[in-house]
Amino acid sequence: MVARHHRNGQKVTDMAETPVTVIGMGMMGRALAAAFLQAGHPTTIWNRTPGRAQALVEAGASEAPTVGAAVTAAPLVIVCVRDYDAVRDLLAPAETELSGRALVNLTSGASDEARAMAGWAADHGAEYLDGAIMMTPPGIGAPETVILYGGPSAAYEAYEQTLRVLGGGTTLISTDVGLPSLYDVALLGIMWSTFNGFMHGAALLGTEKIAATDFLPMATDWLKGVASFLTAYAHQIDANSFAAADATLETQVPPVRHLIHESRMRGIDATMAEYTGELLAEAIDCGHALDSYARVIDHFRR
Ligand SMILES: NC(=O)c1ccc[n+]([C@@H]2O[C@H](COP(=O)([O-])OP(=O)(O)OC[C@H]3O[C@@H](n4cnc5c(N)ncnc54)[C@H](OP(=O)(O)O)[C@@H]3O)[C@@H](O)[C@H]2O)c1
Repeated sequence: MVARHHRNGQKVTDMAETPVTVIGMGMMGRALAAAFLQAGHPTTIWNRTPGRAQALVEAGASEAPTVGAAVTAAPLVIVCVRDYDAVRDLLAPAETELSGRALVNLTSGASDEARAMAGWAADHGAEYLDGAIMMTPPGIGAPETVILYGGPSAAYEAYEQTLRVLGGGTTLISTDVGLPSLYDVALLGIMWSTFNGFMHGAALLGTEKIAATDFLPMATDWLKGVASFLTAYAHQIDANSFAAADATLETQVPPVRHLIHESRMRGIDATMAEYTGELLAEAIDCGHALDSYARVIDHFRR
């Protein structure tokens, strides 16, 4: 790694940094390219619709005239577009140029798509890493930003320092290219159910003119407590042993009923609470009334 230095307050780009190509100049692609430029990497960009990243060009990026020219500009080619179909479509004219390069696909997708894409890349002589960005564009480059990778260790290690420019939480989680997408959807599922829980709570309190911002500190503290329960539940799931150490399923039936009642009484959608009630009833019907909430995993495994 070559040191960078500053002259007259200006960062001096050291051309020994690995050249990178970023394909896709949507919100995320622009943030990725900006981080590489900021870190001094010679950066080539390409987008289906040209001219969407003029600020990056002014900051020193080269906009390639064709996708083939973009691919040949760097040994490391990052692609981040709408979906995997778009990746295939846009890379089709550059199949030959991909040979001998590392293709890193940061487009969101599913595990089967990632595995198929790895096969496609191998057929064209390219190394392939699949990645899942667990952050929005403004967080790209931050030390706490997590980007999960899957693929061959050698390809990851060859470019790890360069990829770390995009986020301090850059990690190879598996040599299986399918796993970043699987972690991605699992984590997004937690995010959306948490969002929905907050919206439901804010709507309930809103019926008494309590502002969401007043509810916020209590909600965020509560989430920390809720997260701490997961440690015991994870161990119970792995051990397939669900003896309740905190609260039984049966104990949680009345509070869920209260949530349904309050929601209906105040004209707030009770569907999520009703669903939770159904999960409890199903587990109790199966004879698990004295188990912990982790027993609900049985429902999802079906
Ligand atoms: N934004 C986020 O917070 C975030 C977070 C994590 C992961 N991601 C993932 O990052 C990827 C890009 O997201 P984004 O926020 O940059 O989306 P975006 O702003 O909507 O940009 C979409 C990009 O995909 C390109 N594209 C769409 N269809 C195409 C096609 N058929 N052929 C070639 N290029 C095509 C667009 O090109 P044109 O300019 O020509 O339309 C544009 O560059 C997605 O997979 C997204 O899920 C985003």
